[in-house]
Amino acid sequence: MKILVTGGAGFIGSHTVVELHNAGFEPVIIDNLYNSNLNVLEGIKKITGKAFPFYEIDCNDAEKVRALFEKEQFDGVIHFAAYKAVGESVEKPLNYYENNLISLMVLLRAAQEFNVDKFVFSSSCTVYGQPEQLPVTENTPRLPANSPYGNTKAIAEDIIRDHVHSKPALKAISLRYFNPIGAHETSLIGELPNGVPSNLVPFITQTAAGLRKSLTVFGSDYDTPDGTCIRDFIHVVDLAKAHVKALDLLQSQTDTNYYDVFNVGTGEGYTVLQLINTFEEVNGVKLNYSIGPRREGDVEKIYAQSDKVNNVMKWRAEKTMADALRDAWNWQLKLTAEK
Ligand code: WQD
Repeated sequence: MKILVTGGAGFIGSHTVVELHNAGFEPVIIDNLYNSNLNVLEGIKKITGKAFPFYEIDCNDAEKVRALFEKEQFDGVIHFAAYKAVGESVEKPLNYYENNLISLMVLLRAAQEFNVDKFVFSSSCTVYGQPEQLPVTENTPRLPANSPYGNTKAIAEDIIRDHVHSKPALKAISLRYFNPIGAHETSLIGELPNGVPSNLVPFITQTAAGLRKSLTVFGSDYDTPDGTCIRDFIHVVDLAKAHVKALDLLQSQTDTNYYDVFNVGTGEGYTVLQLINTFEEVNGVKLNYSIGPRREGDVEKIYAQSDKVNNVMKWRAEKTMADALRDAWNWQLKLTAEK
């Protein structure tokens, strides 16, 4: 099956392209390289031995997207392409609503016009805000998102749900990611944030590599075992495999207008300090960090109840947080060596 992977040169997208290939799918990548670069495609080629078709297209460009659907007969779409920096979304909300939502609707329209009936959407646990109950299940009420970024994910889910309800003969799944971390075991692809990383693990690896002076831990006065926030850190390769399982589930669906959402997490929560200690232990490095004030918009604690994805999609996380932190460090060492 030929699968369009939007944002396929990105962090999660590139790892998913590899797993799609491993599972016998035929990925086609589009990416506007806003938050990535062509070296990622080289890495994918070294891992898989294949140079997958790549088109430098912005998903908001309806004409180019439509022309591509006309040229390539896709069997499905996995839609990653979106702006995803929580802090930036607070400063530039219109950019986020325009980019993340217009691109989604362009793709949904193209899929309908060209009878592409399987659609997997990259959503986020941020749609839960700060949940009252933990672990979160898919029935945990969505709360007002803490950022325009998170709100684009919630609105996007509703757009897909309502579109499927209008019976366009589309089967869709939204995957609500928890915190993706790590890199491919070959160190040929990994997380490659442009500029100063806003996410925890790339900031840690750049600090440990001497590219940053020190990590600031945002707050140690939360109601958690050591006072720092709790998250569900999931290895990016496990997350990539969940997308393959989602396509398999859509393929097996007889309901031609099926829509569902799945939490994709390990089901375990760890604090920021527990992650830092694990990073130091598995990699034998000392991390320079200090405790600073809380970061606005952070939820105190969130982690997944993953029964549904385990039972319905037959997927479960296989790698540990330690595996992810080892892979993330090896990736950083390779990046630093190449500089
Ligand atoms: C994790 C924890 C920080 C940096 C967001 C989005 C989510 C997904 C991942 C895109 C928090 C702490 C961080 C630092 C720190 N988005 N931290 N010092 O905010 O949980 O999730 O990014 O893929 O949808 O909501 O991820 O990595 O930014 O933060 O102490 O320098 O690490 O306070 O508790 P977050 P994060």
